[in-house]
Amino acid sequence: MSAVFFKKSETKIDRSQRILPRHVGIIMDGNGRWAKKRGMPRQAGHQVGAANFKKITRYCNSIGIKHLTVYAFSTENWKRPKEEINALMDLFYDYLIEALRDFSEENIRTVFIGDVTAFSPKLQELIRETEAISADKTGMRLNIAMNYGGRDEIVKAVREISADVAEGKLRPEEIDGALISRHLYTFDQPDPDLIIRPSGEYRTSNFLLWQSAYAEYVFMDDILWPDFSTENLEEALDEYAKRNRRFGGV
Ligand code: IPE
Ligand code: IPE
Ligand code: MG
Repeated sequence: MSAVFFKKSETKIDRSQRILPRHVGIIMDGNGRWAKKRGMPRQAGHQVGAANFKKITRYCNSIGIKHLTVYAFSTENWKRPKEEINALMDLFYDYLIEALRDFSEENIRTVFIGDVTAFSPKLQELIRETEAISADKTGMRLNIAMNYGGRDEIVKAVREISADVAEGKLRPEEIDGALISRHLYTFDQPDPDLIIRPSGEYRTSNFLLWQSAYAEYVFMDDILWPDFSTENLEEALDEYAKRNRRFGGV
C-alpha cells in the first residue's frame, strides 16, 4: 500500500497493543473507476462496492471498533446521470432488504445520517425498519451517510438553533461548539478519530465537516473501494496508531 500523506515506515506495530480509534469514517470511493478499468458499467462497481461495504463493516465490529461512519451517497451525488442514480437506489433497496434479513444476527446498531426524506417512501420505510430492529444492539454503531452533506448538516443545525432563539428558548450567547455538536446527526457520538479514503482523491467531499476538525486522515492512493481489503483497513489502523495527536496542545 502507498499513500501520499505518509511513507510506509519500517516501524512495526504490535496489533495486539495498538490503540484503536473510537470512531472511524470511511469515504467509500472509486467504484466507478474500478468498473471502468474492467470495461464494465459504473453500476457494476457499485455492486461490488456494496458487497465490500458489508464485509468491512462486519470486520470493524469484530475487531472492536465502536463507531463506524461510511459515506454511501452525498448531497452532491444527485448530479450523476439518472441511470446511475437509479442503479444506486436499487442497490440501497437490496441492501436494506438483506440487512433486515441478515443483520438481525449481527450485533451492529445501524443509523442513517443525512436527509433521508429525499428517498422514495419505500426506501424510507426500510430505513426506519432497519434502524428499529437494530436499535437495541450493543456492538458497533454503524452510521450510513445517505444524502449526507457536511454543509447541509450544519445548515440544519443553524436552523434548529435559530428557531430556539426566535422562540425565546435560547439566548445567542448560549450558543457554543458543544451546542452545535448536539444538533448534528452524530449528536450522541464521539468525533471521528480516523477518516480513510481510498481511490487517490485527497479531499473530504463534504464528509463530517464539523466533526473532523481533529480527525487523522489516511488517504490511500493505490486502492479503489471494491478492492479495499481488511488488510488495507489494518494498515490504516497501524498508521493511525503511529500518529501523534496534539489537539493544539504541545
Ligand atoms: C463512490 O464511488 C460511490 C458513490 C459516490 C456513490 P464513485 O462512484 O465516486 O467512483 P469513482 O470515484 O467515480 O471511481
Ligand atoms: C464522495 O465521493 C461521496 C461518496 C463516496 C459517497 P465522490 O466521488 O462523490 O466525491 P468527488 O466528487 O470525487 O469529490
Ligand atoms: Mg468518486
